[in-house]
Amino acid sequence: MNHFWQFATSSSIRFGRGSVDSLASEVANRRLQSPVFVMDSTIESLPQVQKAISSVRSVAKGCSVFTGGEPEPSLEVAEAAIEIARASHADSVIGIGGGSNLDIAKVVAVVLKHGGRARDYFGFGKVPGPTLPLIAIPTTAGTGSEVSHSAVLTDTIAQVKVSTLSPYLRPALALIDSSLSESCPAKVTAHSGIDALVHAIEALTNRPNAQMNIAADNENEPAVYEPRAYEGSYSFTSMLALEAIRNIQRCLVRAVESPNDRDARDGMAYAAMLAGMAFSNSGVGLVHALEYPIGALTHCSHGEGNGLLLPYVMEFNKPMCHSSMIQIASILTGQPEDGCSCEEAIVAIQNLQIRIGIRPRLRDLGLRREQIDQVAEKAIQIERLMLVTARRPNLDDLKQILSNAW
Ligand SMILES: NC(=O)c1ccc[n+]([C@@H]2O[C@H](COP(=O)([O-])OP(=O)(O)OC[C@H]3O[C@@H](n4cnc5c(N)ncnc54)[C@H](O)[C@@H]3O)[C@@H](O)[C@H]2O)c1
Ligand SMILES: [Zn+2]
Repeated sequence: MNHFWQFATSSSIRFGRGSVDSLASEVANRRLQSPVFVMDSTIESLPQVQKAISSVRSVAKGCSVFTGGEPEPSLEVAEAAIEIARASHADSVIGIGGGSNLDIAKVVAVVLKHGGRARDYFGFGKVPGPTLPLIAIPTTAGTGSEVSHSAVLTDTIAQVKVSTLSPYLRPALALIDSSLSESCPAKVTAHSGIDALVHAIEALTNRPNAQMNIAADNENEPAVYEPRAYEGSYSFTSMLALEAIRNIQRCLVRAVESPNDRDARDGMAYAAMLAGMAFSNSGVGLVHALEYPIGALTHCSHGEGNGLLLPYVMEFNKPMCHSSMIQIASILTGQPEDGCSCEEAIVAIQNLQIRIGIRPRLRDLGLRREQIDQVAEKAIQIERLMLVTARRPNLDDLKQILSNAW
């Protein structure tokens, strides 16, 4: 077996309620003079965020604020943020919000440092070196962008989500303060929370790392390591993913139903972080590959699109990841592994979808039947995901999965 992987995450993580209050001292300690905040108008209106902005202003006179973020952000919005950051000679970036704002912040940090435009860095490994210092403060519990190496934007012309992936996109500091997520509407809690579950399940069930490595001719020689977007699944990230799934099982429904349940909010913030660590090393897979074109066509939230697709993709994947599916079933049903089947994992997820209000069919999102071929053709081109997903599909497989989900 050729195990050969590397693991990375944000340089520093501060986790806990109240951690956002240490933002100004972090800015001062890091000698940042002109940070640009990247957020949207909803986030700007939160009292804790108002407080954070004014405390940073007191230590960094050149501080500026971009409030034009939007859900599933377009390239144009990212360019608008870049313009504000350039005009204010930003020396660092503070992203605060859901994954959408954090991803814009990452792109701003890249372009301010290396020049050009957001689209110059699409794909894996195009960022030539470290970015401006980046602080990420999540206000949803889901995307894991605070620890991940990717930023996702929507190309509204090509009608597809486009990702920039680079080891340099991992934030210098993640401040994970679950009290910020208490103001999330139930829908945002549900959609971002199930995205974290998809991250954990895809990281766990993806192709094993040992199969991803190019074997050396001589068995006693080490495998040949090529830098790549994702490593495939391996024991360390599986451990993180399983712990994420346990926390999601314990906390997601509670967080949706009782927004001020602190323990549930903490558990979900923790789960999203763990799942982010897992997937940003091991990879996401086919659920994400299908969601990217569907999201661009229907404007559904990333989380809902993923959550909807998850059971259909698990059904397709199950012959290739039987033992991981049993682990998932056991966590989600509370039954011992030896009495569980793959089918129970899928049913448990369908039940969870109903509890938290994830719509069950692609037609509910507004996808038209005649768009299925187009979605399949776009998804199959996302090679980094096709390479790592549990069971490599062909075009007909994708059309079948989409028809089942439609
Ligand atoms: N970079 C990554 O690793 C990664 C991973 C997964 C998803 N994503 C991307 O993240 C985006 C989705 O992010 P998301 O699910 O966090 O949602 P989001 O950032 O799109 O936010 C959704 C809505 O919720 C509001 N909101 C967020 N936090 C709030 C709060 N505390 N109180 C009140 N309102 C709040 C926002 O203003 C927004 O209107 C997508 O663009 C997706 O592609 C990125
Ligand atoms: Zn995701």
